[in-house]
Amino acid sequence: MAKINQNYSKLPKTYLFSEIAKRSKAFADKNPGVELLKLGIGNTTLPLTATAIEGLSRGVQKLADVKTYSGYGDEQGSTSLRETIVGWYENQGIEFDASEIFISDGAKSDSANITSIFSDDCVVAITDPVYPVYHDSNILAGRKFVLMDCLEENGFIPKVPEGKVDVIFLCSPNNPTGAVATKAQLKEFVDYALVNKAVIIFDGAYSEYISDSELPKSIYEIPDAKACAIEIQSLSKMAGFTGVRLGWTVVPKDLVAEGTENGDVNGLWNRRQTTMFNGASNIVQEGGIAVLSEQGQKEAAELIAYYMENARTIKKAVSDLGLTVFGGDNAPYIWVKCPGSLTSWEFFDKLLEDCHVISTPGSGFGSKGEGYVRLSAFGQKENIEKAVKSIKNHLKI
Ligand code: MLT
Repeated sequence: MAKINQNYSKLPKTYLFSEIAKRSKAFADKNPGVELLKLGIGNTTLPLTATAIEGLSRGVQKLADVKTYSGYGDEQGSTSLRETIVGWYENQGIEFDASEIFISDGAKSDSANITSIFSDDCVVAITDPVYPVYHDSNILAGRKFVLMDCLEENGFIPKVPEGKVDVIFLCSPNNPTGAVATKAQLKEFVDYALVNKAVIIFDGAYSEYISDSELPKSIYEIPDAKACAIEIQSLSKMAGFTGVRLGWTVVPKDLVAEGTENGDVNGLWNRRQTTMFNGASNIVQEGGIAVLSEQGQKEAAELIAYYMENARTIKKAVSDLGLTVFGGDNAPYIWVKCPGSLTSWEFFDKLLEDCHVISTPGSGFGSKGEGYVRLSAFGQKENIEKAVKSIKNHLKI
């Protein structure tokens, strides 16, 4: 008889965003004709830019001609995209070889899959609150956790763990709090990892939302991070590829884990990908090359500026109501303290019922997220303005 992985029973019944969708649908079914204003999931809404579309079209056209047609590609990704990414890092003063870059179908899957190269008895440090994928994927592997509390008192950036851990997940700019770690704060994690032979999994999916030049966009801005950090990147929030699906993972050759030599961990990830992944879509990879070109990056910056204008609109409106608000300055998420003694789900319900606004309850990201909701800036300007107006006019606190 097949036995199932009992660790599934340790997960919440539904994934956070599925639960929100379910509750929102139930409200919509009960209130036909009501327009729901979405500040919940961080889902992009603007169309792709002209350069991204040109790249994707080029990818399609190549498949129409026997001379340029391609079937299976390299599991690690196309050489030209990997080299383009090397150039993207070079522009930030960071050097890699293309063999250190692995193209993925996005940050979500890689941030879960990457843990398969670590032993199940590794102790994993995650922040609380946390992007649920880091938590749930390690629960499924049966790993033990150390929680690093992100609180108002520490600006939602935690201290390094007190004891020894083996793997540390960091996300900066942070989902859900919108906080961004400084270079000094990341250096503490790098120093800790080097001393403890731990590996940092750094999710930089929101790096392009940083406009403060003092704040690090990549963990590799910290000296010696290549010896202890894997970085995961995504074109989802950078270029609206949430549905298109493309990202990458950097596994530096310098990275070592316990009992490994330089290059071994890179080799393990290569082994995993060649076995379990057939590469990202060739069409999409052409789109990625286009997005990372000079013109593509200029256009991506315009998309980001648009969403960040939304973030400012939301942040101002909510703080004008007297609520305590964090994030939203170098990140597309606004972290709002619930008024009075409302729990996250109570405030979620209130925003839904009073204002028809969908938010994300902070408690869905962990116990230290209780008492907060997250608002996302990824909507279209008109909808953001409607949502903000509705909150101003209808929220009864
Ligand atoms: C979020 O809303 O937290 C993200 O959009 C979810 C994701 O990126 O998977």
